[in-house]
Amino acid sequence: MKYRAAIVGGGGIAVGHLEALAGMDRIECVAVADVQEERAQKLASTYGIRPYVQYKEMIEREKPDIAVITLPHFLHKEAAVFCAEQGCHVLLEKPMALNTEECDEIIAAVRRSKVTLLVGHTQHYIAENREAKRIMEQNWLGELVMIIDARHTNYFQAQRPRWFLQKELAGGGILTNLGSHSVDKIQWLGGAPIARVRAAVSYEAAEGNVEGSGLVFLENNNGVPATVSQSGYGGAPKDETELIFTKGMIKLHTGQSLWISEGGTYVQVPVEPQEAPFVLQFNDLLNCIETGAEPECSMEYSRSIVAVIQSIYRSHELKEEQTVPM
Ligand SMILES: NC(=O)c1ccc[n+]([C@@H]2O[C@H](COP(=O)([O-])OP(=O)(O)OC[C@H]3O[C@@H](n4cnc5c(N)ncnc54)[C@H](O)[C@@H]3O)[C@@H](O)[C@H]2O)c1
Repeated sequence: MKYRAAIVGGGGIAVGHLEALAGMDRIECVAVADVQEERAQKLASTYGIRPYVQYKEMIEREKPDIAVITLPHFLHKEAAVFCAEQGCHVLLEKPMALNTEECDEIIAAVRRSKVTLLVGHTQHYIAENREAKRIMEQNWLGELVMIIDARHTNYFQAQRPRWFLQKELAGGGILTNLGSHSVDKIQWLGGAPIARVRAAVSYEAAEGNVEGSGLVFLENNNGVPATVSQSGYGGAPKDETELIFTKGMIKLHTGQSLWISEGGTYVQVPVEPQEAPFVLQFNDLLNCIETGAEPECSMEYSRSIVAVIQSIYRSHELKEEQTVPM
């Protein structure tokens, strides 16, 4: 069967999904909706699909099998619940929603409607990350003793859509948006959920009301510690995760390269080319729809990431360690 997909929100990341779909045999994209009409029209003419302004009208008229939700964070819950109730399977961009209460509403709607929802935690589909996971599963690097994740980027750059800088619309700043990738990596590669966090963040940006940096100490259920350091104020860019074991180390320059130390200097590991992460993500969704299997980035797993992010802000506000609520 060929699945019909529709894109809900035609902004930056929607293009990545449209590009992936354009090269796939098993899914055909039929429509895109964006409140900025000219955006919907431009994407529609580029990809030969139908434009809409109101996404609800698009879903009701087109009745797609799959809704790809690429909206600002404050609209994730509303759109995911609506699409699920209309009988669509859903690929929902990360983070799942603004808070765990909203995640619970999505989970309930999806279960009631008996559809499949996968949250787009793209780290799981990046070749270097998958290879790192494979190497870790072979156990020859010994016991994992810590994870160090660092990300620096100019978060407040002019090209960033301005809703990202409003807490009410985005949920938070760099730690919500890019931190959800870090927390995902630490939970997934570390093989256990985060149990505790202690965090300090800063609010020094000239615009908006979200944090621009954060330093977080986390500990997973197995007692493995991790740090996340993120700065969005500019400076030298960095996107690096190091996993430290008793017999060596793994270093990821996310989406760029993979390095291994077997006790000495890092050596770059060749990584087999693979299909684009967004293609693999859609294939994963189709597999789950067809087999009834639970996605790796399931709703419960993705909710746990939102719970960690909320605990990070709570820890900063209360100036004390927080146990992440289940
Ligand atoms: N997986 C990744 O690596 C990755 C990368 C970038 C963004 N994202 C996520 O993708 C989502 C979208 O981010 P983006 O960078 O594309 O943002 P964006 O602002 O570029 O796109 C959002 C689009 O939604 C449209 N929109 C707003 N309200 C709407 C409504 N009611 N109906 C229809 N359209 C509406 C906006 O006009 C805009 O075009 C976010 O959840 C973000 O965190 C994920």
